[in-house]
Amino acid sequence: MPPPPLWGPWETPLTPAVPDWLKPQPRPSGEMFLTLPGGGQMPANGLGMCCRPSAYDEETVRRSVLWYLLQGGRHIDTAQLNLNHKPIGAAIAQAIERGVPRAEIWVTTKLHERFYDRGEETILGMVQEWLKELQVEYLDLALLHRPRPMIPLFVHKCTNWTQCTASAWRAMAKAKTKGYVRNIGVSNFDIDQLKEVQTLGAAPIAVNQFMLNPFSPAWVFDIASFCKENGIAVTASAPLAGTMQTKKAVSEEVVQGIAVNHSISPAQVLLRWALQKGYNVIPGSGNPEHQKENLAIYSVTLTEEEMTKIDMLRDNPGYMIHDMSPASWAIPSGKIVWERMFPSKSPTCAE
Ligand SMILES: NC(=O)c1ccc[n+]([C@@H]2O[C@H](COP(=O)([O-])OP(=O)(O)OC[C@H]3O[C@@H](n4cnc5c(N)ncnc54)[C@H](OP(=O)(O)O)[C@@H]3O)[C@@H](O)[C@H]2O)c1
Repeated sequence: MPPPPLWGPWETPLTPAVPDWLKPQPRPSGEMFLTLPGGGQMPANGLGMCCRPSAYDEETVRRSVLWYLLQGGRHIDTAQLNLNHKPIGAAIAQAIERGVPRAEIWVTTKLHERFYDRGEETILGMVQEWLKELQVEYLDLALLHRPRPMIPLFVHKCTNWTQCTASAWRAMAKAKTKGYVRNIGVSNFDIDQLKEVQTLGAAPIAVNQFMLNPFSPAWVFDIASFCKENGIAVTASAPLAGTMQTKKAVSEEVVQGIAVNHSISPAQVLLRWALQKGYNVIPGSGNPEHQKENLAIYSVTLTEEEMTKIDMLRDNPGYMIHDMSPASWAIPSGKIVWERMFPSKSPTCAE
């Protein structure tokens, strides 16, 4: 039985092979960083490894990450939920072998909420497992993926999410103390939920990652302001409005007009806007040309007037909130079902 067309045939990688002759390219000139509490320097422009067909097929994932690292990118964002740690780890190991210094690579992953109530020992064991899968000796950043379950895809045993989140946060703080993780943070937390974590005092919240782009609702920008006031770095997930809406976002007249002014692409305009706002961006792409384009956003500066024009696009009801998008959950869950049904069909990372 062929796999459903939504995420394509497993046997045909969606990203071209990385040529053997490709040497590591220099990092983008004028690259920006976000300083985290504790001094960590997070590259402001990363590669998102979720929520599109090319973020799950193992060979495609390996190729995508290897292309990105060899093209000068240094920040990879994934999650336990994405089930792609192993091919990302294979790509990291290959990039290091080909000359990319490990110390320059920033790796972020996230603890899924269904494990929040499992206790410190189990969570620490999971973090150690991630290190093996990702082939690194420490993680640069680990996040609690969500404050509450998004959809009851799994059986959640937790009955008090404030307590479960607190317990998971303390376990992550322990992982930091043990040196498994250098920074810890959260994802999709609103202001009240951030305050709850702050009161625990176990460790500073380094980052809050949530869907943020020029079309986001006003309340999302309120969260970003709270983060800024509280020294929490903001990572804008879906900075191009998410796979299902990217085409629409890059076709917006305002965005296209600004792109023409600077001879850059509309996607670069969206990313540059976010960087100038002080956000970290993690555009997802399995296309090496797009990856290259997305990294080349340091040499252009949008004017104040252009920034204001983009600011005015906010609160656009024509754009859905990312986590409501079927692509963000159907693909990973489809992969789980597929692997359980046909374990021998799972692809490997071999060339
Ligand atoms: N914390 C959370 O709950 C959460 C939720 C969602 C996402 N995230 C993170 O945020 C990352 C980014 O979000 P996302 O991947 O959903 O959405 P996105 O980055 O807004 O958009 C990704 C889409 O944009 C396309 N694209 C990328 N660069 C392009 C360019 N230069 N020109 C035209 N199209 C381009 C990609 O297609 P190609 O592959 O063809 O380039 C892909 O389909 C995720 O990968 C994930 O790491 C986190």
